[in-house]
Amino acid sequence: MALEKVCKAAELPVGAKKAFALSDRFIILYHLEDGFYATQRLCTHTFTPLDLGKIIGGEVIQCPLHRARFEIRTGAVKRWANFPLGIQLLNPVRGEKDLTTYRVVVKRGAVYVEIEAEPADEGSEKVV
Ligand code: FES
Repeated sequence: MALEKVCKAAELPVGAKKAFALSDRFIILYHLEDGFYATQRLCTHTFTPLDLGKIIGGEVIQCPLHRARFEIRTGAVKRWANFPLGIQLLNPVRGEKDLTTYRVVVKRGAVYVEIEAEPADEGSEKVV
């Protein structure tokens, strides 16, 4: 595992999120009321960039395409894709799947994300 510097803490205000390319994958860094969190960038449903989505209630990210919702702190599915009507027909092949999350460390005003050495899960966008 390695810590990779993402940005200065002051660059991302509370309530904001931003996508970053690390050495081998893309992540989203979120600044919530209680600190920084990171998840994979792409939705696990059909791979829409979640940085285009919105944060709801200060703790959930909603995908902009089919409106799946994920707990930012854990990556857990809170509500699966439900828009437009009929999208549930994809569930047998695109069933519920949590987001990969990454440990975040803040040191001397900088934000670092811990990246594991093994390959990312399906849907985690790799930097090539
Ligand atoms: S791509 Fe995110 S809910 Fe379908």
